[in-house]
Amino acid sequence: MTKRDFLTFWDFSTEECETILKRSRQYKSGGLDSFQPLKGKTVGLLFEKTSTRTRLSFEVGVYQLGAFPIYIGPGTTQLARGETISDTARVLSRYLSAVVIRTFSHDKIVDFARNSTVPVINGLTDTHHPCQVLADLMTIEERKGGLKGIKLAYVGDGNNVANSLIEASARMGIRLTMACPEGYEPDSAVIERVKPFEVPVTNDPAESVYGADVIYTDVWVSMGDKADAGEKKARFQPFQVNDRLLSLAERDAIVLHCLPAHRGEEITDSVIDGKHSAVFDQAENRLHTQKAVLEMIVG
Ligand code: CP
Ligand code: NVA
Repeated sequence: MTKRDFLTFWDFSTEECETILKRSRQYKSGGLDSFQPLKGKTVGLLFEKTSTRTRLSFEVGVYQLGAFPIYIGPGTTQLARGETISDTARVLSRYLSAVVIRTFSHDKIVDFARNSTVPVINGLTDTHHPCQVLADLMTIEERKGGLKGIKLAYVGDGNNVANSLIEASARMGIRLTMACPEGYEPDSAVIERVKPFEVPVTNDPAESVYGADVIYTDVWVSMGDKADAGEKKARFQPFQVNDRLLSLAERDAIVLHCLPAHRGEEITDSVIDGKHSAVFDQAENRLHTQKAVLEMIVG
């Protein structure tokens, strides 16, 4: 059987995403508490950037599924001294049953996956964060009862999370609109690739959020972002998710943020701690959705 990777949403069909979400609900409800489809396996977590949620939810999830997680932190392998990605992938494939990778360039994870004989899961690259967005889908389903036709307004930087939201929305029939400052729109290649699915992108946050069921934001300056942070933050100020912006959405709208949040920048305390916020359920759902992915491609 050929191995399966999860590098972007293109790796799963709509039906497979639905299967993963259904399974995630079963994991969350406790119905699979003693189920160990990864028993005796070993999963590496090769991280070149810092992490709280992705690292911890994968370590706990791998353990709960019966396997042993090995965290390989930034700068701790011979990659840091120039060993090639392909040689590293070929060697790690001899020890591990799967590898979760967090890195900079997306090309690196593609190169790793091409040379790995075991499944590779994207734990975030500069341009994609698919595991995060699976948890986002689960959270929207929980709070809104479904995904199809839901109006999701993403407000902020056209970054890795934004790109994965575009691909997932196209897969699942979510009506996505995006509001980004001029010059910070999502990758045009990502928008082009999901056609005929349309993603309206505006520079006006109010226009995007009007009538939204879900508002989503993320940090203005991502890990590895080389932009001048001070200059960028000034440009993004009108894109802050605050009570005024939230008041333009549906009355029962929910607010999502992948975390970590820069409180007082892209989101105010009143919104992230307010009654519309679903961000801590969203963080919890990383665990359940990743267990479903691990079961599907590593189990
Ligand atoms: N949301 C997310 O990926 O968080 P971490 O960077 O803490 O893993
Ligand atoms: N866009 C953020 C997401 C962090 C989970 C970053 O890449 O830093």
